[in-house]
Amino acid sequence: MTAPPSPGPRLRAEDLTLCYDQRTVATGLAVDIPDRSFTVIVGPNACGKSTLLTALARMLKPRAGQVYLDGAAIASYRSREVARRLGLLPQSSTAPGGITVGDLVARGRYPHQGLLRQWSADDDTAVVEAMRQTGVLELADRPVDDLSGGQRQRVWLSMVLAQQTPILLLDEPTTYLDIAHQVEVLDLCARLHARDGHTIVAVLHDLNQACRYATHLIVMRPGGVIAAEGDPSTVMTAALVEDVFGLPCRIIDDPETGTPLMVPAAPRRYAPARAAAAPTT
Ligand SMILES: Nc1ncnc2c1ncn2[C@@H]1O[C@H](COP(=O)(O)OP(=O)(O)OP(=O)(O)O)[C@@H](O)[C@H]1O
Ligand SMILES: [Mg+2]
Repeated sequence: MTAPPSPGPRLRAEDLTLCYDQRTVATGLAVDIPDRSFTVIVGPNACGKSTLLTALARMLKPRAGQVYLDGAAIASYRSREVARRLGLLPQSSTAPGGITVGDLVARGRYPHQGLLRQWSADDDTAVVEAMRQTGVLELADRPVDDLSGGQRQRVWLSMVLAQQTPILLLDEPTTYLDIAHQVEVLDLCARLHARDGHTIVAVLHDLNQACRYATHLIVMRPGGVIAAEGDPSTVMTAALVEDVFGLPCRIIDDPETGTPLMVPAAPRRYAPARAAAAPTT
């Protein structure tokens, strides 16, 4: 007797061709997002990371290929159903003019509303909890337009968290954040992944943060091609970084976590002239 086919991960893409009008960003792109993983996507500017994320969230229709969510083509779902399962933090968004932080975050509850389901105490709780998690609760009555870049970024993240989806796609969630807030947001993602079993897919530019937090690392190269994927400790090599980013470097152990730490090679012209200072005897 043959075993039943494996159901596969909740979110996967098969043989995607992704285009904007005449520009083709990727062809034959396939990706499996391991369930309950903290997947991090890294790659050079313009290689297609955001394009892939928007296709996974059904915001961009592939020219060819399919994205599958829970075993069915994502295109076959009603939009509210997709939004109950998967939330997207886009790389950039514009808030409606004059809207307050609280009202914007409340929009994250839209997929949970309906003709028969009006605003409830659960919605209030979800909104307050989302704002608390990202530290923007005290900004609730402020217009979004008046906030700093970092505050605004945390408000957008709050809106996605208020959606309370099991899958979160976050395009550069740490952009605009100071280093302490970057760590706070990544720790929050790690908690949502490890404690609450959410599947997180985040695009990050900091390779060392990627290696610290990712349980599954995807490295993309220009042309929307996956150069390598897997556990950061096996994926992140100096040869790969030089190949994909064109950056000579060394990989050492992160003294805090033991995960790979990428140290860019010092350009010769900036290297201190130690030889000249050394005694000649
Ligand atoms: N709306 C659009 N219309 C036309 N071309 C686009 C559009 N959005 C992105 N592109 C192009 O598609 C390619 C991939 O862009 P994408 O935004 O996916 O890159 P990325 O890897 O997310 O880069 P970054 O690290 O800079 O965010 C780029 O060449 C970009 O110029
Ligand atoms: Mg991008």
